[in-house]
Amino acid sequence: MRIAMIGTGYVGLVSGACFADFGHHVTCVDKDAGKIAALERGEIPIFEPGLEALVASNAKAGRLDFTTELAGPVAEADAVFIAVGTPSRRGDGHADLSYIHAAARDIARAVSGFTVVVTKSTVPVGTGDEVERIMRETNPDADVAVVSNPEFLREGAAIADFKRPDRVIVGIEDERARQVMAEVYRPLNLNQAPVMFTQRRTSELIKYAANAFLAVKVTFINEIADLCERVGADVQEVSRGVGLDKRIGSKFLHAGPGYGGSCFPKDTVALVKTAQDHDSPIRLVETTIAVNDQRKRAMARKVIGACGGEVRGKTIALLGLTFKPNTDDMREAPSIAIVQALIDAGASIRAYDPEGMAAARAVLDERVVYVANAYEAAEGAAAVVIVTEWDAFRALDLARLKAAMVAPVLVDLRNVYQSYEVLRHGFTYTSIGRG
Ligand SMILES: NC(=O)c1ccc[n+]([C@@H]2O[C@H](COP(=O)([O-])OP(=O)(O)OC[C@H]3O[C@@H](n4cnc5c(N)ncnc54)[C@H](O)[C@@H]3O)[C@@H](O)[C@H]2O)c1
Repeated sequence: MRIAMIGTGYVGLVSGACFADFGHHVTCVDKDAGKIAALERGEIPIFEPGLEALVASNAKAGRLDFTTELAGPVAEADAVFIAVGTPSRRGDGHADLSYIHAAARDIARAVSGFTVVVTKSTVPVGTGDEVERIMRETNPDADVAVVSNPEFLREGAAIADFKRPDRVIVGIEDERARQVMAEVYRPLNLNQAPVMFTQRRTSELIKYAANAFLAVKVTFINEIADLCERVGADVQEVSRGVGLDKRIGSKFLHAGPGYGGSCFPKDTVALVKTAQDHDSPIRLVETTIAVNDQRKRAMARKVIGACGGEVRGKTIALLGLTFKPNTDDMREAPSIAIVQALIDAGASIRAYDPEGMAAARAVLDERVVYVANAYEAAEGAAAVVIVTEWDAFRALDLARLKAAMVAPVLVDLRNVYQSYEVLRHGFTYTSIGRG
């Protein structure tokens, strides 16, 4: 199969490299010339474990290449995947489909022969219909079948998720597309990954329903954690006891500072907007969004409380800035609201993240001081706050950390530590939901 991947971000680059590794020939297209030039030099523009080696080996084997020119690879492709961004639209929170629509127009002008056009980006119900309409309007002679194939990979474990997915969802309206899509995903048969064919609109909604459900699940345990603090219960034990129920499952039951990232925040809002537009509001998700938004700033109040109610003039050390470990992605990270609220309260911030500091500089207050490791961050700090549970923070030398600080206060927003380990080093310890 020849595949053109339009958009070479987190999803496009991982999908492109994995399809190439399956044996297909993939050309990754991006309009960002800097990104393509870097990839051609063998540099990976994002941090994703295992991706550099996967890209290098497939590029070397001649199955994966990169370009800014869409027309050539689209003309040659059996399947063209659209993996461009669908951020929240400024003002109303609907998914901004301008990149999708622009890509659809460019693809329509370039296709030659029967071509399957696959939307991999997360797009609201009905987008496939609109993509089809735009393509027919732009090029009435184009012989295309527009397919929905939402991506479920998780940043930080993206390659494993892509190669061993829980399921692949394919929404089709044109039977000719089924064969092509079956062939594209045939290498997954070895892993017995279920490929579920359904209608296009159903497929589009599956992606939003899945993300919204996970966001609700995380938010649910976060509220249970707050209750645990009030009543003297331990949320980790509650999670374990609840998660052992197979109807519920243990995943996404870890209490923390609130969900962030490039998907849950924008996808929950977009689903709510779609539902409201169709007079079918999903109040559970509306409430989830509100609870989660408030939670991020509430985490800063927790830090202030741990510092005796006042942080003006104090230095606070933050460990971990990205929205989760093993990524450099800062989109909607809880650290953004926490940093802002602490600075608003008069604190100075020293921060360390193993991979996210370059991206953090672009979004955090310019007064944040970035340092090279956790111990440097702790120098002169009135509190150390674990915001993201990178492995590097799981076995900190607590004596060394304490020696660098002006007050031994540890705030663990990811429940990485057991309180007895921390308390025996003379720290005061604040965590989530362990009352
Ligand atoms: N990041 C994730 O973990 C994840 C997981 C599942 C689904 N998704 C969805 O996948 C989509 C892409 O997300 P992402 O995180 O990879 O985004 P991203 O911002 O990292 O990448 C998008 C890329 O598309 C390029 N682009 C935009 N318009 C283009 C055009 N007309 N032609 C060529 N290139 C173009 C941009 O330059 C950018 O490099 C979104 O809809 C997102 O919701 C993301």
